[in-house]
Amino acid sequence: MTQQNGARQFGDYQNEIYFNGLFGIQPTMPMTFSDLAAKAESALPPSVWSYVAGGAGDEHTQRANVAAFEHWGLVPRMMVGATDRDLSVDLFGLKLPSPLFMAPVGVIGLCAQDGHGDLATARAAAESGVPMVASTLTVDPMEDVAAQLGDTPGFFQLYTPTDRALAESLVHRAEAAGFKGIVVTLDTWITGWRPRDLSTANFPQLRGHALANYTSDPVFRARLAKAPEEDLPAAVREWVRIFGNPLTWDDLAWLRSITDLPLILKGICHPEDVRRAKDGGVDGVYCSNHGGRQANGGLAALDALPGVVEAADGLPVLFDSGVRTGADVIKALSLGATAVGVGRPYAFGLALGGADGIVHVLRSLLAEADLIMAVDGYPTLADLRADGALRRV
Ligand SMILES: Cc1cc2nc3c(=O)[nH]c(=O)nc-3n(C[C@H](O)[C@H](O)[C@H](O)COP(=O)(O)O)c2cc1C
Repeated sequence: MTQQNGARQFGDYQNEIYFNGLFGIQPTMPMTFSDLAAKAESALPPSVWSYVAGGAGDEHTQRANVAAFEHWGLVPRMMVGATDRDLSVDLFGLKLPSPLFMAPVGVIGLCAQDGHGDLATARAAAESGVPMVASTLTVDPMEDVAAQLGDTPGFFQLYTPTDRALAESLVHRAEAAGFKGIVVTLDTWITGWRPRDLSTANFPQLRGHALANYTSDPVFRARLAKAPEEDLPAAVREWVRIFGNPLTWDDLAWLRSITDLPLILKGICHPEDVRRAKDGGVDGVYCSNHGGRQANGGLAALDALPGVVEAADGLPVLFDSGVRTGADVIKALSLGATAVGVGRPYAFGLALGGADGIVHVLRSLLAEADLIMAVDGYPTLADLRADGALRRV
């Protein structure tokens, strides 16, 4: 599906769908986000659905993340002849076919009908060329996930435990497994107030789900009196004790020292935090409010993006939260994001169609983005970022 593959462009996906229609083949996967969400709700157990679809508080921030995109519009340019579009990006020395990536979704394992959604996500990354950021919270250990990535780069997302030796073990395992960067998530050392999950008293990790990276880790295992296979409840209690580390800027030098891989801080929305991250030697910042799952009432992530990009001053800026369409991808890029992540959309694709379902979601996002660049006369990402391309409405 990549543009490097002959003359193919992402927008060609629509030809495939229309031509299939000539042979009576209709798409089995939804073509809109609302349809995708509705069908995923029917396909998932209620507890998994509410964990994935829900957010913090009354979900105002989650909705604001999506609504914020409506306040921006690309100004169409004519007579450009944008027959060849180039969506490729260089990120941390990696040449990627597009700026799209899959945000880390813990417990994604449970969204697959066979319970191995992390592996399916990695296979979708291999198939699509869209990188996966693998969460710390997986059903299958990171080594097994990495083995399914094929030639597509993967990144490892670290929830930094309070035990530094364990954090270092996780990072060094990620390096050995071939991940190409470490994304440290800063906004989830404590879980936000999530009424949907609270109303069913459902927190998957406490039920022993998605802890494979811990239960397979020698440092974590050494903390236990009995192996997790023999006493899972004790392992879960130990996990609760060490999971959340309320990091401060004083910890950044240590984080920087434990890996030579690109280090990216996730959850950065304030320009001053960007500057501190930069001073601490990070390779990128990741502007996100966790899809509105952590703190309600906050700013839409998209509204924080311009300030982050300005303060980053050339440092790569990854972005997610609220991206639902290819048009949203375009707007985030135009506001200066280097790469754009999606969360829930691919989780829903997985629930409906496994790895193929994810690939469909990713191809649809890229096709729409590519066709907007064609129709509106912006053949390159640099064109999208030029002054006057995007207007606030
Ligand atoms: C079910 C679920 C689990 C998530 N787990 C993680 C995680 O383990 N680590 C992390 O950094 N972010 C996690 N996130 C946040 C995503 O990485 C991303 O910031 C968010 O989903 C983007 O918003 P979107 O869902 O509106 O696209 C999770 C999101 C969801 C929906």
